Amino acid sequence: MKPRTPVVRRSPSVTSQLGLSERIFATAADRGLAANIDQGIEEVEASLIAELVYANDIANATSRYLFNAGGKRVRPMLALLTAHLGDGAVPEVVTAAGAIELTHLASLYHDDVMDDADKRRGVPSAQAVWGNSIAILTGDLLFARASQLMARLGERAIRLQAATFERLVMGQFRETVGPRAEEDPVEHYIGVLGDKTGSLIAAAAQAGIVFSNAPAEYEQPVVSFGEKIGVAFQLIDDVLDLSPQPKETGKVPGTDLRAGVATLPLLRLRERARTNDADAALLARLERDVMASNSVATEAADSAITALREHPVTAETLAEAHSWARDAVAALSPLPTGPVKKALTRFADTIVERSS
Ligand code: IPE
Ligand code: IPE
Ligand code: MG
Ligand code: MG
Repeated sequence: MKPRTPVVRRSPSVTSQLGLSERIFATAADRGLAANIDQGIEEVEASLIAELVYANDIANATSRYLFNAGGKRVRPMLALLTAHLGDGAVPEVVTAAGAIELTHLASLYHDDVMDDADKRRGVPSAQAVWGNSIAILTGDLLFARASQLMARLGERAIRLQAATFERLVMGQFRETVGPRAEEDPVEHYIGVLGDKTGSLIAAAAQAGIVFSNAPAEYEQPVVSFGEKIGVAFQLIDDVLDLSPQPKETGKVPGTDLRAGVATLPLLRLRERARTNDADAALLARLERDVMASNSVATEAADSAITALREHPVTAETLAEAHSWARDAVAALSPLPTGPVKKALTRFADTIVERSS
């Protein structure tokens, strides 16, 4: 008999990196749901460990590298949560949640090449270890495996995966080429966030409904929730890029800015710089010391990043993230009152309060 795949327990410090377990499941009434979600996450982990096997030892090492380095597992957690509006963490939900996490994982390998990021999940990024080609190929292998997992679930799953992947890539593409001359940069940017991040988070929430046989009328509300919370999530990520605590974020501060990725604090600063000399001076410092510089950490770069972090545009970005999170929660109104809705609401709060 084939031995059962061992269930690997993730350390609580990893699963609760977002404070999810304490924040979402604080009351006794929600504990049954909490236990089910924890169990579901363990099943997703175990299935992915069993899944990350390729016909090449080096591919095994490179594909497991960032998987093992950590990660909050936000997307599978969301799929498991919405699945509790239906039959719960049935095998189809576990498979879909795993495929979505693999899609996310793959996108991180590629993203770090594009953003020239030195660190990911607290370790050197894959291309810093093996070079661009191996990082890109590993991402491709993971995308391929995610598609194989979805294919086991039939045509609906394949269509969901393909449409989501296309949107994610289009988000990265639009971010890379930037807004058209006639396009408003902030509107373009929010559209990019919906595509590159909202799409996959929405797909996670949707997969939980579709593959748990939950009522179809819950699909649209959770998709809308996922899209909006994805934008909030990414806005917070932009602020975290300015964080002085690389240990918490597992990334190097200012990575986006150095790669020329115009995040919302910078876009808002550009708007203000048209009419305010001090803002124009800060923008010039950022452009000279951070965005045009290849160096990882000069004092001038650090001080310009700190000035942007302390500028009102960063507080405005946080306020915008909170507003998207409130809209996300509002989208849940058609869902029945109960532990899942409550947990999704707390999930939204946790996203905007996250520090990693
Ligand atoms: C990072 O996503 C990339 C974004 C879409 C902002 P996460 O913050 O979910 O990354 P991990 O999985 O926890 O590392
Ligand atoms: C992450 O985007 C990649 C995708 C959403 C596909 P970012 O480049 O904005 O996120 P981090 O900061 O590297 O995690
Ligand atoms: Mg990046
Ligand atoms: Mg990026």
